[in-house]
Amino acid sequence: MGDNKSTSAIRLSSGALRGRVAFGSVAERGAELAAEYYGEVSCVYLDPPFMTGGDFSLSRRLSNSSPRVALDVPAYSDKFDADGYSKMLREAVSLSRELLSDTGTLFLHVDSRASLLARQALDEVMGAENFLNEIIWAYQSGGWANTHFPRKHDVILFYSKTKDYFFDLTAVPCGTVGGRNSHMRRAVDESGRPCREILSAGKLYRYYDDEPVYPSDVWTDISHLQQRDPERTGYDTQKPQALLERIIKCSTREGDLVADLFAGSGTTGAAALASGRRFLLLDMSDTAQTAMLERFIGQPVTMDAPVSRGKPEIKLSKQTGLGIYIVSLQSFTLEEDMQAGLPPLVKRAAATKRGAAVSLVCGYLDSGVFTAYAGKKRDGKSLEPELSVSVPVYDGELAVLITDVLGRRFCLSVPDNIEGE
Ligand SMILES: C[S@@+](CC[C@H](N)C(=O)[O-])C[C@H]1O[C@@H](n2cnc3c(N)ncnc32)[C@H](O)[C@@H]1O
Repeated sequence: MGDNKSTSAIRLSSGALRGRVAFGSVAERGAELAAEYYGEVSCVYLDPPFMTGGDFSLSRRLSNSSPRVALDVPAYSDKFDADGYSKMLREAVSLSRELLSDTGTLFLHVDSRASLLARQALDEVMGAENFLNEIIWAYQSGGWANTHFPRKHDVILFYSKTKDYFFDLTAVPCGTVGGRNSHMRRAVDESGRPCREILSAGKLYRYYDDEPVYPSDVWTDISHLQQRDPERTGYDTQKPQALLERIIKCSTREGDLVADLFAGSGTTGAAALASGRRFLLLDMSDTAQTAMLERFIGQPVTMDAPVSRGKPEIKLSKQTGLGIYIVSLQSFTLEEDMQAGLPPLVKRAAATKRGAAVSLVCGYLDSGVFTAYAGKKRDGKSLEPELSVSVPVYDGELAVLITDVLGRRFCLSVPDNIEGE
């Protein structure tokens, strides 16, 4: 049924927009984004490849129960020499500087492999005088080396654009005085309120147990995403939303615009939505675009159009209720050559009627823009998911957006003549 429709943009809900996801590299889209958003961004977060020499993927989990049925779809390659890496960083930091307002700040997230080159690029483009912090994000997850101390921290370099920057530490409390291990003496004040006290240079310092405490430049209270964390999208290098919420909240006010030029699975967007900020995301990986589409279903977000190639056989049905259409995916059959290379369990799942589909979003197409009114993602309970959604009846070209196990996205119109099938 139907060809992939030529769409210019996808809106994932009909409400007022809060976020935009652009597709392409910093080099490809930089000039256009700089012209459109020059000086409008309050905070840029950059989480580029770390020069690991590896390849990263998106795990498409079809079943949560044993045996695990999942396919790793390539997302991006992290193979750079030092010169190529420095060039890529300089391009991204230069674009960030153009996007930033004069009170804006930049966070560049790397690890010990790339921190020297990152610091050099930042000093050169942002100015060494605008360096604010080298934040250490320490965590426990991952393997355990015995040829050297296990490497258990990332480095987040924090710079401002000018000396007149916005920063609010009080927006990011990380506990209370009473909840912390402390060398101070426990006490109660005259009114019975619990506190800690310390005598220093003849002066008594008192901190109340219920007073908030704030993070220093060493962050140990945010853990890496665990394997079964419900926040996980399957994107290999996904960062925890709590990390991005801390970054966004201390550096922006509600309603401000935050940008991420290496967006991956869209964690910065998720954190911005949760904190009442707007966002601009960029990523050059087609797979990352699919991860973000599935993450933002139903959210006030616009994305660049799908460009996925291929022609799976797709059958839909449509029923009309009281002011609604119920649109269901009847079957989704992968092209034969695509099935050939699949691992046996995934191949078996994909051979069922809808086993290769991951999500269904339904809405209307108007002048090349697809606006979604309802969407559903498979929940991992069944190898053959029920993907059925109801949308209000409007005049217009009814259409669906479907993602598949291979990480592709397809937009096609729902024909009139399938009513009641
Ligand atoms: C470490 S991941 C980001 C992960 C993200 N912070 C998250 O939480 O999911 C880096 C991302 O940068 C993207 N990327 C690499 N080089 C790029 C470039 N030159 N322009 C835009 N995106 C790029 C990759 O496709 C990848 O998704």
